[in-house]
Amino acid sequence: MLYTEKVMEHFNNPRNVGVIEDADGVGEVGNPTCGDIMKITIKVGDDDRINDLRFQTLGCGAAIATSSIVTEMARGMSIQDAAAITKRQVADELGGLPAAKMHCSVLATDGLKVAVDDYLKRHGREPISGEIKSADPNYDPHADEDDPHGDEDGHGDGLHDDG
Ligand code: FES
Repeated sequence: MLYTEKVMEHFNNPRNVGVIEDADGVGEVGNPTCGDIMKITIKVGDDDRINDLRFQTLGCGAAIATSSIVTEMARGMSIQDAAAITKRQVADELGGLPAAKMHCSVLATDGLKVAVDDYLKRHGREPISGEIKSADPNYDPHADEDDPHGDEDGHGDGLHDDG
C-alpha cells in the first residue's frame, strides 16, 4: 500500500482545520510546482508555548495528512521546539511516507516556521528559523528532494492522489 493507515486516517479526518482569526502568528507557504498552498495560524502563550493552531491546506493527500499531524505534534510545544520539527520527524510520526511524497511534508513544517517567526517579529524579537525556502514563491521543493529513492524526474508523480 502506498500510504500508511495513519496517513490515510489523517487525510480522511484531518485535525485542527481552520483559521484562528486573532492569531498571534500566521504562516503561508506554497509549492509553486504542484500549486499546493498551506496556511497555518497559531496562538502563543506568555510562556512561548503554542496553545492552539489551525491549518488550511489546498493540496495533495500527503500535504493534508502531514499538516494535520504537525498541528498535533506542535500543540503545547515551545515555539523553539515547534520550529525545529523536521520533515523526517513528521514522516516518522505518520509511519512513513512514499519517497516521492517526502517533499509534501515540507509545506507543514515550513508553514509552522513562518508562523513562529511571524509571532516573534510582531513582538520585536529575532526570527529563529533562518531561510524558509517554501516561503519563496520561486522555490521548487521537487528539485530539492534529498531522498535518493525519490522520483527520478524531479517533479513528483505529476498526480495528486487525493481524488
Ligand atoms: S505538496 Fe504538492 S504534490 Fe504534495
